[in-house]
Amino acid sequence: MELIAMEQKLKETLSERRYNHSLGVMETAVKLAERYGADVEKARLSGLLHDCAKDIDKAIMPEMCAALGVPLDPVKLTHRSLIHADLGAKLAETEYGVTDGEVLDAIRYHTLGRPDMTLLEKILYLADFIEPTRKEFPALAELRRLSEIDLDLATLRALESCIAHVKSQGKDVHKQSLDTLAFYQKLVEEKERVMI
Ligand SMILES: [Fe+2]
Ligand SMILES: [Fe+2]
Repeated sequence: MELIAMEQKLKETLSERRYNHSLGVMETAVKLAERYGADVEKARLSGLLHDCAKDIDKAIMPEMCAALGVPLDPVKLTHRSLIHADLGAKLAETEYGVTDGEVLDAIRYHTLGRPDMTLLEKILYLADFIEPTRKEFPALAELRRLSEIDLDLATLRALESCIAHVKSQGKDVHKQSLDTLAFYQKLVEEKERVMI
C-alpha cells in the first residue's frame, strides 16, 4: 500500500487528535532517523502506523487478538490500553500490508519497550513522547533535549517518566517495562563510567 493510501485509511480509523499525533510521531521519527542514521522510510512508516489500533473498542480487543493469533498476558488483559501495540503490529501487517519485521517490531514495542531495543525501536519509542502535538508533561522539555544528544539516556528518562506516571495512577507496571528500565539503567551507568 502507498503511504498516501495508508494515511487516508488511518484518518478514517482514528480520532482527529490521534491522527494528528500519528503525523507528529511520523515527522519526529523521520527527523531522528536522519540525525542518527536510521532507515528514514522505516521510521516514517512505523511513526505513521504505531497507534493504528489505539481507537479500537477495548472490549473487543481480546477477541480480535485471539482471532488474529496475537498472544496476550494477564496484565495486558487487565490494562487493555497496552494491547494496542501488539494488535497494531498485527494490523499494520494485515490491514496496511507492512511486511518489514523491523517496522512491525518498532510498533509492537512502542509502549512497553524491551531490553536492548534497536535504533528504530528507540526512535519510535521517543518520537511518541516528544512529537510536537504532545500535551505538556513534566519531563517533556528534557526528553526533547536529550533525544538530540543521546538516545539511550533519553530512552531511560522516558521509561522513568512513564513508569512513574503508571504508578501514580495505581496501575500495575508491566514486567517488560521494568526489564527495559533495568537494561537502560545499567547501560547508561556503564556509558558514564567509560566517560569518567
Ligand atoms: Fe501508542
Ligand atoms: Fe502514540
